[in-house]
Amino acid sequence: MNQAPRAHRAVFITFEGIEGCGKTTQAKLLAKRLREEGQQAILTAEPGGTVLGRALRAALLNPARTVDPIAEWLLFEADRAQHVRETIQPLLRRGVTVICDRFSDSTRAYQGIGRGLGLDQVDRVDRAATGGLKPDLTFLLDLPVREGLARAASRGKLTRIERERTRFHTKIRDAFLVLATREPGRIKVVDGRLDRPHAAEVVWKHVAAVLGRKAR
Ligand code: TMP
Repeated sequence: MNQAPRAHRAVFITFEGIEGCGKTTQAKLLAKRLREEGQQAILTAEPGGTVLGRALRAALLNPARTVDPIAEWLLFEADRAQHVRETIQPLLRRGVTVICDRFSDSTRAYQGIGRGLGLDQVDRVDRAATGGLKPDLTFLLDLPVREGLARAASRGKLTRIERERTRFHTKIRDAFLVLATREPGRIKVVDGRLDRPHAAEVVWKHVAAVLGRKAR
């Protein structure tokens, strides 16, 4: 039987959600599962997936700084432009599946809707940053804001964005849910209150379906 070349099976998967939603844990569990299934998979994150990005992350999340909303947005896009060209695209071209903890949907929810900069404007610049790269599959880990913020607080010192008012975080949760409703084929909502193995099983079912389609 002819094996499809690996390059055709590389999948780009992103995890999204509010603070403390459990996306980082699920992204790690998925990377582990893919490797156990014999797939090459790399886990990366935004902001901060490159050397430049780590400097941008420190500047963006420092609670002692005040950052203008437009500057904030463009710094997230700068992080993404570097990350896509330096890391994500080269890996996908080599046939490696890439799992990214946050991507364009975070900018759309936090800056486009949360900061009120507008989805049209954000999407236009984001397309330049990504070169048109879109995830094959996105998981939105959804849970009530108070539960997410409590989890984030239990991890230690809050970042500049985590320190925003509850009202801001509620807007972000609602924004993510609206984005998911608009693209149900790509964005899968996973209940962030499920226990870890149960949520991982839900994630895996969707990933297995996409891998199956790509391999055909
Ligand atoms: P993280 O700690 O979950 O990696 O997220 C970093 C923070 O940056 C989080 O508060 C969400 C925020 N963020 C945006 O506001 N816009 C973006 O485009 C990205 C990638 C993250």
